[in-house]
Amino acid sequence: MPAQRAPIHLTQPSIGQAEIAAATAVLRSGLVVQGPEVAAFEDEFAAALAPGAHCVAVNSGTSALHLSLLGLGIGPGDEVIVPSFSFAATANAVKLTGAIPVFADIDPATYCLDPAATAAALTPRTAAIIPVHLYGHPAAVDTLADRNQLALVEDACQAHAATLHQRPVATFGAAGAFSFYPSKNMTALEGGMITTFDPHLARTLRLLRNQGMEQRYANEIVGGNWRMTDVAAAVGRVQLGRLPAWTAQRRANAQVLGETLPTDGGLQVPRAAAGAEPAWQQYVVRIPGGPGERERAQRVFAAHDIATGVYYPTPIHRLAPYADTAPRHGWDLPHTEAAAGQVLALPVHPGLTTDDLHRIANAADAAVPAHEHGRPAAPAARTGAHR
Ligand SMILES: Cc1ncc(COP(=O)(O)O)c(C=O)c1O
Repeated sequence: MPAQRAPIHLTQPSIGQAEIAAATAVLRSGLVVQGPEVAAFEDEFAAALAPGAHCVAVNSGTSALHLSLLGLGIGPGDEVIVPSFSFAATANAVKLTGAIPVFADIDPATYCLDPAATAAALTPRTAAIIPVHLYGHPAAVDTLADRNQLALVEDACQAHAATLHQRPVATFGAAGAFSFYPSKNMTALEGGMITTFDPHLARTLRLLRNQGMEQRYANEIVGGNWRMTDVAAAVGRVQLGRLPAWTAQRRANAQVLGETLPTDGGLQVPRAAAGAEPAWQQYVVRIPGGPGERERAQRVFAAHDIATGVYYPTPIHRLAPYADTAPRHGWDLPHTEAAAGQVLALPVHPGLTTDDLHRIANAADAAVPAHEHGRPAAPAARTGAHR
């Protein structure tokens, strides 16, 4: 057994004194819901994203997706193309509108919607497409937006600050949705943000999140309560300021992992597609074999006090609530099925030290050992100083 060392967590939200001070100030102010902090968070998020962007803060990433669809008028009778290889929230948002999620396969290199598979899933009832920037890697939204005359709602819940051809994700489609859940690259405790360049859609979204009201008790449409608290927004504003440094650190960590993880046992490291600058919300390798080999690898990492995770072991179309969406011929999603059995997330968060990164690479040597033949001599143990 390796010597006991500090555990390396898979995600590590960083909530410091500045966030605590900002939250406390809101609580002292008495203006705690949908007040000045929310307005400032929206303005600052829009300014950081792109000129001309409108941002509408809501209480979760799921709400951001759900309201985007409602705001675009999507509902019963419509079909929305989504990847099955995502968090269930992506498809749940579609189901909650009464529309039908239609699952298309992924590109096995990026784990994001494959444009050709998406084209094959189109029907006269298709009303929108939700590409997911999974693990923080940009989906092929440029191709998807160009080829289809349909609304794109970008699920950027895992992709704060990711870019494609130097353009931020969530700026390609009709709307983009971010999450501020604590495991994401920045947090507002719970929360979400919708981005759009359409001022009319932005106004509709503001109405929807607040019972259809702009003026109190002058309800214009049917809406709900999807408001963000000012405590959340105050925390989010501090985190937004820290996001550029964190993103740079995630990218640096991903580069070190890409250079040091041993691949001679068949482990596959992720590579960014041409023009893509991922946000590395997760660093996901593939373990050769199936779930059994992956579980074995996870146990080895755990013995080295390194946490790992599987996002996602079950494709959405195989989850119970989606049984009724299967077409008669069943779903044919081979890349989704293969990925679900092999992906393994390793720590990449900005709190990792250089030594942590070397520990991960060393543990991978044992977790995915090279085959007996054809393997060069075991590399010398990697060491590194704490940052
Ligand atoms: C891809 C994806 N979509 C949607 C969501 C939903 O976000 P939230 O948990 O803030 O509702 C998440 C996060 O959990 C996610 O990872």
